[in-house]
Amino acid sequence: MEDMAREQTFVMVKPDGVQRGLVGEVVARFERKGLKLVAAKLVQVSKELAEAHYAEHRERPFFGELVQFITSSPVFAMILEGENAIAVARTMMGKTNPAEAAPGTIRGDLGLTIGMNVVHGSDSPESAKREIELWFSEGALTYERTVDAWLA
Ligand code: TYD
Ligand code: MG
Repeated sequence: MEDMAREQTFVMVKPDGVQRGLVGEVVARFERKGLKLVAAKLVQVSKELAEAHYAEHRERPFFGELVQFITSSPVFAMILEGENAIAVARTMMGKTNPAEAAPGTIRGDLGLTIGMNVVHGSDSPESAKREIELWFSEGALTYERTVDAWLA
């Protein structure tokens, strides 16, 4: 088993999650799953960063509210690494609308409305690369983790 689908993904706990004290809960779920934390920081997001991050939604009716929300209070940004990390993190987050997200998922267990759905995660390898460069220009850490032999 070489580094076949070892990936990095960008995940953040949104302002509602930080305000509600759910950073530890969200990080704990990803850690228990086996994903490796290689970068993390609390960020007060600027309008510029919010608009760049959500650029694909520029023309959508909810764009203004989305930028307003993401810049309203700090977010907890991180890079997670592991086998199929991008898809695995998305599956753990659940559907975009917490009302439709399955119980057991982060949004299904912790969210209620689509506007405040607790967490963001990159949706593809291209998005992950773009978002990691956007949010972590300083880069991530490289370090050995003794459990990796059991998790890939
Ligand atoms: P999107 O990229 O479609 O969802 P996801 O976060 O699952 O990748 O949308 C980005 C965010 O925009 C979403 O997390 C919540 C917000 N949003 C709304 O407020 N209303 C909407 O109708 C949609 C589709 C998204
Ligand atoms: Mg998205």
